[in-house]
Amino acid sequence: MAPLAVRLPAGRGPRYSRATMSNTPTLPDLATLETPALLLSQPRMAANIERMRQRIATLGVAFRPHVKTAKSLAVAQAMLGAASGAITVSTLREADEFAAQGFADITYAVGITPNKLGHVARLLAQGVQLRLILDSVAAAQALVQAADAFAAPVGVLIEIDTDGHRAGIAPADAATLLAVAAALSHPRVQLLGVLTHLGASYDCRSPEALRAAAEQERAGAVQAAEQLRAAGHAAPVVSVGSTPSALFAQQLSGVTELRAGVYVFQDLVMAGLGVCTPDDVAVSVLTSVVGHQRAKGWTLVDAGWMALSRDRGTAAQPVDQGYGLVCDVAGLVLPDYTVIAANQEHGTIAHRSGDKGAMLDLPVGTLLRILPNHACATCAQFSSYQVVDGANQIQAEWPRFGGW
Ligand SMILES: Cc1ncc(COP(=O)(O)O)c(C=O)c1O
Repeated sequence: MAPLAVRLPAGRGPRYSRATMSNTPTLPDLATLETPALLLSQPRMAANIERMRQRIATLGVAFRPHVKTAKSLAVAQAMLGAASGAITVSTLREADEFAAQGFADITYAVGITPNKLGHVARLLAQGVQLRLILDSVAAAQALVQAADAFAAPVGVLIEIDTDGHRAGIAPADAATLLAVAAALSHPRVQLLGVLTHLGASYDCRSPEALRAAAEQERAGAVQAAEQLRAAGHAAPVVSVGSTPSALFAQQLSGVTELRAGVYVFQDLVMAGLGVCTPDDVAVSVLTSVVGHQRAKGWTLVDAGWMALSRDRGTAAQPVDQGYGLVCDVAGLVLPDYTVIAANQEHGTIAHRSGDKGAMLDLPVGTLLRILPNHACATCAQFSSYQVVDGANQIQAEWPRFGGW
């Protein structure tokens, strides 16, 4: 067995059933787990991380991985290749968890609201170098009003809307950009630059479209930063990114940092975009066959939406993967079988064609794996990862957290 490339969290070993708890030095295999369970293939994760590392080196920008997908110390350390470093978070809970582990450079990449400013003050008092994003004069004013209570300066990135997909100020809207910048006037509030996330890249249908989306993201962010600079603001930070843009950008001139998160696990939405293949997806839900409805061509398993999530992110893609794509226990994709329905604790597997005669006829108790549409959503259903090696032996159990 190859050693893990990352340090395991202290005190956590694999959770396995009493039947296998002997003094044998061999690692437990998947048959020892209760299902459903969240599996993390360490070799696939390592390959995804290495691919991104090479991209970052080619693009010549700083990397600030998004830890929202994994919400796990061990995974974040693997992404960084270090015990700590600069990260992006999607909740202040993530900021708390990572700050407690010594991460001191954190961007909270969801627009800040007034009711979180007390939390921000606590993080600053702990010594965290925190960066916030906002896109309105009202949010800027609320931050400035709270800043007297800050123990240290907070960084601010103005959120830029490079695709009309979500929040942000249009890159060409100099008036709003400068009004927000002007409202950020306080000795403990530092305007650092701009941040954008071109969510429309998740709707692309070709490599050309993905490349064009990445360029649109880059150009919009740089344009917005230049508007600020022309008005006398230094705006040293230009932050862009998502997994598709990180993997498809041709060049990132003017950009200072790239963010990406889901790349670490990949998922079926990313595979549907052509960003990866199903064989790159590092997380899967281990499930057991519960029974059959032969007349309907159904195989029932113990992974419903509580395990898989209700995410149907592939529904609008050319290949709809239902609630997930079925693999055998070793992770070999069974391309014709998807989870066509998900109740709370039941998943229904059927042939993609609807052919009832092609039912997946496996005995009760047979283990299968389901690849997720959206890794962030599926992982959020579990409190830990069962980390498996290339031979599907369980190496460790890594905790993950959720909530706000
Ligand atoms: C602001 C922001 N930055 C970065 C990311 C990372 O994108 P991805 O998960 O595609 O890597 C996200 C994802 O939602 C995001 O919202």
